[in-house]
Amino acid sequence: MKEFGYFDDKHREYVITTPATPWPWINYMGTEDFFSLISNTAGGYCFYKDAKFRRILRYRYNGVPMDAGGRYFYIKDGDTVWNPGWKPCKTPLDFYECRHGMGYTRITGEKDGLRADTLFFVPLGKCCEVHRLRLTNTGSERKSFQLYAFLEWCLWNASTDMENFQRNLSTGEVEIEADALYHKTEYRERRDHYAFYGANRPFDGFDTDRECFLGAYNGFEAPQQVLSGTSGNSVAHGWSPVAAPRFDLTLEAGESTELIFVLGYVQNPQDQKFSAPAVINKAPARELLAAFANTQQVEEAFARLKAWWDNLLGRFTVQSSVPELDRTVNIWNQYQCMITYFMSRSASYFESGIGRGMGFRDSNQDLTGIVHMIPERARQRILDIAATQFPDGGCYHQYQPLTKRGNHDIGGGFGDDPLWLIFGTVAYLKETGDWSILDEPVPFDNQPGSEKTLLEHLKISFQHVVDRRGPHGLPLIGRADWNDCLNLNCFSWNPDESFQTTENKSEGSQAESLMIAGLFVAEGRDFAALLQRLQDPMAASVQTAVQEMEQAVKTYGWDGEWFLRAYDFDGNKIGSHENPESKIFIESQGWCTMARIGAEEGLCDRALDAASEELECEYGLVLNAPAYTTYLAEYGEISSYPQGYKENGGIFCHNNPWVIIGEAMAGRAQDAWRHYCKITPAFTKDQALRKVEPYVFCQMVAGKEAARPGEGKNSWLTGTAAWTWKAVSEALLGIQPQFDGLLIQPCIPIGDYHIHRRFREAEYDITIHQTGKGGSVFIPYKPGKQVLELTF
Ligand code: BGC
Ligand code: NOJ
Repeated sequence: MKEFGYFDDKHREYVITTPATPWPWINYMGTEDFFSLISNTAGGYCFYKDAKFRRILRYRYNGVPMDAGGRYFYIKDGDTVWNPGWKPCKTPLDFYECRHGMGYTRITGEKDGLRADTLFFVPLGKCCEVHRLRLTNTGSERKSFQLYAFLEWCLWNASTDMENFQRNLSTGEVEIEADALYHKTEYRERRDHYAFYGANRPFDGFDTDRECFLGAYNGFEAPQQVLSGTSGNSVAHGWSPVAAPRFDLTLEAGESTELIFVLGYVQNPQDQKFSAPAVINKAPARELLAAFANTQQVEEAFARLKAWWDNLLGRFTVQSSVPELDRTVNIWNQYQCMITYFMSRSASYFESGIGRGMGFRDSNQDLTGIVHMIPERARQRILDIAATQFPDGGCYHQYQPLTKRGNHDIGGGFGDDPLWLIFGTVAYLKETGDWSILDEPVPFDNQPGSEKTLLEHLKISFQHVVDRRGPHGLPLIGRADWNDCLNLNCFSWNPDESFQTTENKSEGSQAESLMIAGLFVAEGRDFAALLQRLQDPMAASVQTAVQEMEQAVKTYGWDGEWFLRAYDFDGNKIGSHENPESKIFIESQGWCTMARIGAEEGLCDRALDAASEELECEYGLVLNAPAYTTYLAEYGEISSYPQGYKENGGIFCHNNPWVIIGEAMAGRAQDAWRHYCKITPAFTKDQALRKVEPYVFCQMVAGKEAARPGEGKNSWLTGTAAWTWKAVSEALLGIQPQFDGLLIQPCIPIGDYHIHRRFREAEYDITIHQTGKGGSVFIPYKPGKQVLELTF
C-alpha cells in the first residue's frame, strides 16, 4: 500500500515524502490573532482574527486543479522552472519533503543541484507569517538563477471577494518600495488595515498586477514573467493585486544564501493612517520587517514558538508500549484540540471560513480539549458563550467571534444547547479548581444591565430543559439535538430553505430526544455535586429531576436491546427495532451508557453490545443503521444524505468516543480500545483510502453503506478532537480530573505505562502497573511534585 509520509515523533512532525498526497494535507500556523492554513505544497491562506472579514490571501475553494493559491516560490534555472513545494508548476523534483510541525511547516525541494529549504511560521505575538528560504547550490558548478516569490491578495471580505466583481475589479490598490509590496485596497476609505509582503533584501524586479505577472490566459503553473525571466514592474490598479518580487541570484558550488520574507498585517489608529496624503503609514510594517531581518532574529522567534508548544504539550504525556497511542496523546490529538479551539468550525479545507460562526455547543465541547493547557482562555470562552444566552436559558446556536454577539440568522431552539454550558463549566472547574468563575456577572444576549452570575446561568440552563419535557417525561428535541440533522419538527419540502433555520412546527410536537436525556442525567449529576459543594438548595431538586429522567429513560427509552433514539412529532419511535430503517442510533447508546442509566439491570452492557453488533464496521461505529434510503420530511436533513455519509450512516467520529467512554465506564477495556483504534488516524492502514491527513481526526469517515467505506472527510475542525482527548486521557488512560484531585482509573489493555501530568500547581509522575485487578485510586490535589507507582 502506498505511504505518503511518516511520523517523526522526536521533532513532533509529520513528514510528507511525496507532494501528490491524495488530498492536500494541511497544517495551521498562529496562536492568537493571526492564523494561517498551509498545505504540503504551500497552498492556503491567512487571515486576521476573522476568516471572513479580514482575509489576507485569496484562495479558490474546490477549484481545478485543487488547492490553488498560497505562498509560492518559483525558481527559474536555465530553461527549467520549478517550485520547492512542487506546485503549481509540478516540475518533477529530485527531492521533496514537507514537515508539518507544531505551528510551522518546512518544505524542501531540490532540483538540478539547487536545494530550497523553506520554513513557514507565525511568530508569537506578531501579526505576520515569516517565510525563510535557504538556497544551496549542491552541485559542483556556479549557478545563476532567478527566484520569484508570489502571493495573491484577497480584497479583505472573503465572501464579496468571490461575488461582487462589478466593484472588486476596480478597487485594488498597492504601494511599492524597493523591498516591500503593500496591499492597501479600501484603505483610502473606512479600512484602517493593510497587508504587505517584504524581504530582507531589495528586489531585482517585481509585479503587483496579476495579469501582468501570469499573462491573461495562464494559470499559476505558467507565469509569463517567470517563463521569460523578467518582471513587468507592474502597478496594480483595480483587477487583482498580487505580490511577486524577483531576485537574480548566483551561488558558487556548495554556497548557500538565505532570504527572509515577511507577510504582514498592519492596523493603524484612524488618526495615523497616512504618512502623507494618500500614502499609507508604513512605520509598523517597517518595524515588523526589521524584526525579521536576519537569521538570528528568525531563529530566536522560531525557538520561542517551539518553547511555547513544548510547554503546552508537556502538561500531559504518556509513555507506553504503543507508539501510535503515544504520538496521538502526546502530540497530534492535543495539537488538534488547540487548532479546533482557535478556529471553531470556521476555516479548514472543508470549512470555507465564510460560513458558520462559533457554535454554542461546539465551543463548550472544544474548550474541554484545551482547558488543561490554556485554562485562562477556556475561562474567557465560557463567559463569552454564556453572554449569548437568553434570559430563559435558551441560547443562540451560534455567535460571531468579532462581535461576540448571537447570530440572528441561525437563531436558537436546539434542545441540547443549554446543557453544554454546564458541561463546559464543570470541565473547567474540575481542571482548574477556579470556583470564582461561578461568581462572574454575565449578561443575557449581551444586553448591559441584564447580568447575573455564571452560576445563575447554569441554573436556568438546567431548568430550561426540565421545563421542556414531552409526553414521556423526556427532553423535547426542539430544532434538533446534538445531531443537527435530526429535524423532527421541520417538515421541509422546499429545497431553497435551510434545515437548520427554517420555521419549525411547535404546536403539538411530541418530539423527544434520548440523547438529551442521557446528557441531562450525566451533566445533572455533576451539576448536583457542584451545587452540593456550594451548599446550594437547588441541589436536591436537580437530583430529583435526574432521577425522574433516569426513570423515564428506563420506562420509555429502552427498546429491548438498546436505547431508542427519539420520539417523532407524532410520538412514534425512532431508532427502534420496529422501524424499517435506522433501527439503532449511536448517540443514545453513548450518552445513556455514559450516564450509566439502568446499569444494574444490565441495560448498559446490552446497549454497548448492540452498538458493536449493529453499528461497528472496519473503520469505526456508524451513526445509524441501516441508513435511510429515501428522504423523509418527518426526520429532516438526516435523510437528505446518501447512505453512509455524514449524519446518515457515516462514521461520525465525534460520537464514537461516547461509546468508548461508555465501554470504559462499564469496565470493558477490549471493546473500548478496539473502537478507539479504529477511528484514531495514527493507526491508519491505508492512507490512500483515508485520503485526508493521517495525523488528525476527521469529523466523518464514510460508513459501511457508502461507496468507499473508510474514506475520510472534514478533517481538523471537529468536536472529535476534544472528545477523543477526553476518551483517551480520562477513560482509557484513566486520569480523571475531579473537583478536589485526580481519580486514576485505567481501562486500557496495553500493559504498564507512565504518565506525566501537570494539574493546577501540581506535577504528577505516575507509573501504572496493570495486573488485571482493576479498580481506581483517588489522589487529593496538593501543589508540588509527586511520584506515584500504582497497581491496577
Ligand atoms: C451538517 C452538520 C452540521 C450542520 C450545521 C449540516 O449540513 O451535516 O454536520 O453541523 O450542517 O452547519
Ligand atoms: C457538526 C456541528 O458543528 C455540531 O454542532 C453537530 O453536533 C454535529 N455536526 C452533528 O450534527
